[in-house]
Amino acid sequence: MAPVSIHPKHFLSDKVEHFTESVIREMTRQAMQHRAINLAQGFPDFPAPAEIKQAAQDAIAADVNQYAITWGAKNLRNAIARQMQEWQGIQVDPEKEIVVCCGSTEAMIASLLAVCNKGDEVVVFEPFYENYGPDSILSGAKPRFVSLRPPHTPEAEWTFDEHELRDAFQPNTKAIILNTPNNPTGKVFNRKELELIRDLCVEYNVLAITDEIYEHILYDGAQHISIARLDGMRERTITINGLSKSYSVTGWRVGWAVAPPAITNAIRKVHDFLTVGAPAPLQEAGAAALSLPASYYRDLAERYRTRRDRLIPALEKAGFHCYRPRGAYYVMTDITAFGANNDVEFASYLVKEIGIACVPGSSFYKHPKDGSQQVRFAFCKKPETLDEAARRLEKLRQK
Ligand SMILES: Cc1ncc(COP(=O)(O)O)c(C=O)c1O
Repeated sequence: MAPVSIHPKHFLSDKVEHFTESVIREMTRQAMQHRAINLAQGFPDFPAPAEIKQAAQDAIAADVNQYAITWGAKNLRNAIARQMQEWQGIQVDPEKEIVVCCGSTEAMIASLLAVCNKGDEVVVFEPFYENYGPDSILSGAKPRFVSLRPPHTPEAEWTFDEHELRDAFQPNTKAIILNTPNNPTGKVFNRKELELIRDLCVEYNVLAITDEIYEHILYDGAQHISIARLDGMRERTITINGLSKSYSVTGWRVGWAVAPPAITNAIRKVHDFLTVGAPAPLQEAGAAALSLPASYYRDLAERYRTRRDRLIPALEKAGFHCYRPRGAYYVMTDITAFGANNDVEFASYLVKEIGIACVPGSSFYKHPKDGSQQVRFAFCKKPETLDEAARRLEKLRQK
């Protein structure tokens, strides 16, 4: 048969036209290629706690090696419910209100697939964690962005305009995605802001889908408040969380969604056909992780605070303007002082010539120009990794 010429896009879905590959994961590939220090992707370069690694090994040795119940191992669901009660005072039925997924990444997209119809809109604060746009599009919805504005003083917080947020709520708004503590800004939404979001969700009958994966990583006395805790929100909130960040196990791929029973049922159906279930032995280890004492979380936050306070002065000395995070483990910076054409060119220079990978700011915005003078650094790294980064940043200062 004569060879047929097939247009490269012939077999592809239109949906994938509307977003690009992850810039963050691409920066990790570049970091490896150039032997650069990877301050791009948010994964720790230090070990996970010994007791939870042991729990994973014990589970495998005990032959917990077959499919877990599709919506999550009972021990882990019980531990999640217990923790939500202890930390946020939210009562959760582990039999009816939890879906364990392959990371909070799957929990987010399974949730959106479970609730969105074609033509729905989803409100997303910008700059945003880069998955939210593609997740909305893949689930048939259209993201509508609301700006978070950077602070003018080191003590101030990223803020949003109440009117802009109100304008984003439309008759076809299905959900608002909230991420607190926030990646990439480090913002921790306060009670007043959450109450405003709550009022709009109730007025427009909208769901809140809240990604709380950094809930235990807080600085300077910041307090994490789950929006599900506010009056009127329990029945309209999907709370997403996971093991990755609190226990330094980003490769385990265990996360979850907590929602009222009818929504949970829908998410369970989507999840079942997407992945069947999250890794069974690692779910058992997750139950052990969630049973660690309160001191574990205090130490975790304190260790991240020292890392933040190590990286920021080195960045500032090199010429970056840093927005000091109150939570999560990233620092968003302004690069205007370097006179670069744009963030992508600057990030490429930094990885090739200075040996440090960061994430170009444009990957956190719908319009690349909005992030063209920003880059983000992750500081979830060993002190010696950050010291070496500081040494390399000296080179930047001298150029
Ligand atoms: C805000 C946010 N949500 C979710 C994730 C991914 O979490 P998981 O490893 O549970 O899929 C990340 C990872 O960087 C993140 O920053």
